[in-house]
Amino acid sequence: MKTELRILRRRSREEEPFWQSFIYEAEDANAAVSTALNALNSREELTDTEGRRADPIRWECSCLQKKCGACAMVINGRPALACDSKLSGLGPVVTLGPLRKFPVIADLITDRSAMREVLREMKIFLRAQTEVSESMTDIAYEASGCLQCGCCLEICPNFCTGGKFGGMAAALPAGRLIEEMDGEGREELLKEYRKRVYEGCGKSLACRDICPAGLDVEKLMVNSNAAAVWKALDFLRKKRHEV
Ligand code: SF4
Ligand code: SF4
Ligand code: FES
Repeated sequence: MKTELRILRRRSREEEPFWQSFIYEAEDANAAVSTALNALNSREELTDTEGRRADPIRWECSCLQKKCGACAMVINGRPALACDSKLSGLGPVVTLGPLRKFPVIADLITDRSAMREVLREMKIFLRAQTEVSESMTDIAYEASGCLQCGCCLEICPNFCTGGKFGGMAAALPAGRLIEEMDGEGREELLKEYRKRVYEGCGKSLACRDICPAGLDVEKLMVNSNAAAVWKALDFLRKKRHEV
């Protein structure tokens, strides 16, 4: 099976992007975009469809098993994992570009540190090390499956790098802790969730069908909203009635 890979390239942050195409012939019917990128970069001399020599294609990967989220990119216009995207389902010409919500470092590599920055500001890492219950609920277990790949942020109309809103990539780790945490710190976490997730989310659910980890983001968000917003508001309403 012959595929043309049309790749949006950029040598560095400073340089202008340009399109470059390569032909890849897969022997394996299960070959994924990651297989093609590895094979192209393994060639002794990489040449494009015009016969010009090309630099190796820069992209990120680690597990190649849909477990780390590193290989997220835009494939035929949709955010997806390269190791989870079979060429057989993508047509004879496949376009590849970097995630567009994050600054490009080079070719298909983006700087996704803004996602971690939101979690740092919400103190998610510190909280995760402290007061979590020993038995994990189903909701917490599912939320822990977030790969931090950023695919949901790519299609989220409300997320922008450096903004206050953390999107689903912040909602899920926070939701896991909301589900697990008791005692001191929980109220502060709920406040952070309201500020960094609930208030910025337009509830459009554009992110509902995009998660490559297959997480039911709608269910997880409804659960966290219930804990952080509706129960809190109920409590305030009751208080108002008491006075
Ligand atoms: S529901 Fe809409 S606004 Fe909220 S995280 Fe998903 S895509 Fe973004
Ligand atoms: S919710 Fe899904 S799409 Fe969003 S960062 Fe986590 S794994 Fe990726
Ligand atoms: S390389 Fe880890 S998810 Fe693709």
